[in-house]
Amino acid sequence: MFYDDVMTAVDFIKTKTGQKPELGVVLGSGLGALVDFMENREYIPYSEIPGFSLSEIKGHEDRLVFGTIGKTSVVAMQGRFHFYEGFSMKQVTFPVFVMKMLGIKDIIITNACGGINESFRPGDMMIIDDYVNSLGNNPLIGPNDDRFGPRFPDMSEAYSKQLIVFAEEKAKELGLDNIQKGVYALFPGPCYETAAEIRALRVMGADAVGMSTVPETIVSNYLGLNVLGIACVTNMATGISKTKHSHEEVLAVADMISEKLCKWVKYMVENWNF
Ligand code: HPA
Repeated sequence: MFYDDVMTAVDFIKTKTGQKPELGVVLGSGLGALVDFMENREYIPYSEIPGFSLSEIKGHEDRLVFGTIGKTSVVAMQGRFHFYEGFSMKQVTFPVFVMKMLGIKDIIITNACGGINESFRPGDMMIIDDYVNSLGNNPLIGPNDDRFGPRFPDMSEAYSKQLIVFAEEKAKELGLDNIQKGVYALFPGPCYETAAEIRALRVMGADAVGMSTVPETIVSNYLGLNVLGIACVTNMATGISKTKHSHEEVLAVADMISEKLCKWVKYMVENWNF
């Protein structure tokens, strides 16, 4: 049933575009400007695609954007779904299943996050090298469909080591100096964490915290995709930050980071040869 739902979306999309993406990109809050660098753009609003949900979060356009960067054919999600909006984990990750069945092999997942590691600063970009799922939920719970992947997928390389090295190399070539690397913890939201929760997450090994990315990462691994994760530090986490959090602040800083992130991702995708 779920397989059929995914294929219905895939078949619909194929009636709208002949593009055959090799790379998927998930654009987090305020980070959607990457699509401006794509050529041959074609847009499909989520509202038209069977099986897609509709997110109501500010800073999201809610559409799939097809196009090319250099020689690479890309499908970008301008807007994603979050667990805290009330969507099921299958709804949150539905587009990843669809992008896989459209042919992508690799995926770049971006987000805005709070910095837990005190050497980080707002404006930094963190290459994600592992995750902590503190959600108490998982998108793969339920019957398994072997056509997608195994019942018990391995997560020892949740973020591709090869892509991490590649991202580091390309950042160096561009002279980006605010690149960090670390562990991203998923917190359910929608409220920001308490200071005690941040201390707990730090003990669990987290360098940054956010409300997304991990469900998409789990499903991507399950589907055999190579994942590159980039978390943009828009604020320091609760208890470290001297000020209270607001979504407006997150969007404003994400907007400032967006230019550097776009430059970096564009350069990586232009040189994508995996
Ligand atoms: N916590 C959770 N999610 C976030 C944060 C944060 O501090 N900043 C941006 N997204």
